[in-house]
Amino acid sequence: MSGSIALTHAVHGRRRAGQPPTSVFLSAAWGADTPTAPIWLMRQAGRYLPEYRKLKDRYGFWRMCRTPEIAAEITLQPVRRFPLDAAILFNDIMTPLPAMGVDVDFDPGPVIRQPVRTAEAVRGLRVPTDDEVAPFVADAVRLVRQECAIPLIGFAGAPLTLAAYLVQGGGSTDYREFRTWLVRSPGLAHELLDKLADVSIGYLRMQVEAGAQAIQLFDSWAGVHHERGYATFGLPYAARVLDALADLGVPRIYLAVGASHLYPQIATLPAEVVSVDWRCGLGRCRLTMPGKVIQGNLDPAVLLADDHVVDAAAVQLLREGLGGAHIFNLGHGVLPTTPPDTIARLVETVHGFIRPTGAVATSAAEDGLIS
Ligand code: CP3
Repeated sequence: MSGSIALTHAVHGRRRAGQPPTSVFLSAAWGADTPTAPIWLMRQAGRYLPEYRKLKDRYGFWRMCRTPEIAAEITLQPVRRFPLDAAILFNDIMTPLPAMGVDVDFDPGPVIRQPVRTAEAVRGLRVPTDDEVAPFVADAVRLVRQECAIPLIGFAGAPLTLAAYLVQGGGSTDYREFRTWLVRSPGLAHELLDKLADVSIGYLRMQVEAGAQAIQLFDSWAGVHHERGYATFGLPYAARVLDALADLGVPRIYLAVGASHLYPQIATLPAEVVSVDWRCGLGRCRLTMPGKVIQGNLDPAVLLADDHVVDAAAVQLLREGLGGAHIFNLGHGVLPTTPPDTIARLVETVHGFIRPTGAVATSAAEDGLIS
């Protein structure tokens, strides 16, 4: 079955013998003020692409994640269509959980029919070895690396966000059961977060050892917590995961959504890059997180507007990103109704914008956003 998904298409940027290993994405991730901003997009592989929907109808989500040839194929779909500067592995933040003994379904977001809330449930979770956790992901990474010369980003969920799904039992707008659980059972929460940190470390190290050239830690729901809650249950575990990757020599990206109240804490994380959502101007992000490369932050909803609106918003964001390293991305994932042609146009606009290095951004102060 999976053999029918042949990885035979030429992918732009295919590695040629003797080609120097330069990448505008990796340069920017390490802090360089690059002459053009690199661009990749969260959920660049996904439902807005008809070729993705075709495979999804045929195989279903879990089978796509667990079959290396299919996961590699889906990773490459957007890279074939658009001259993006990085690929992100197609899989999910929930992928390591079945090896811990948790049943996860997708509808379309994650569903955990037996939420993990009791001491018995937390203590019953296994911590699989690095090789056991998801060997099919390592195989997918190797397949993508054979086919594609632009850098491949591996990823995992941060402990606090994985715990949110496990305890809540699925997605939620405010994770209120989870928030109650954290304050009601802090000791148990630390036990759970500790196990999840161990699993994420092993899972990310495995991806880098298989060939991933950068990693992103998704703390998608960190923003629902109070500063103190994040300081207790979020930051220490995200820091432990990121720190455990320090010797691997790949740039580390940390993403939190709706989390500008947490930026002073996020600024202390051992990550080179912080991926910011669309709510906060880049000037303010830079001010509150000095020394971090900023990735972001076009509102994904903008991509549903007319072409001239998208062009203007992209250029405005590129101007805001001047004066330091900037990786162009969305503030969160591509929405399923986004026209693929709009993505093509966006990538062209970003690549056509020459950044005068050493330039000063159109500052948030100039825009009257901060005094
Ligand atoms: O292109 C990429 O970004 C790589 C693939 C990727 C997926 N999920 C594929 C996916 C990545 C990096 C993720 C991470 C992920 N998964 C996160 C962190 C990013 C974020 O969105 O904050 C989270 C919270 C999850 C959990 C998850 N998985 C949700 C909330 C959903 C539903 C999403 C939706 O759009 O409704 C999923 C399913 C999922 N993961 C899909 C894809 C392409 C959609 C599956 C489908 O086709 O129905």
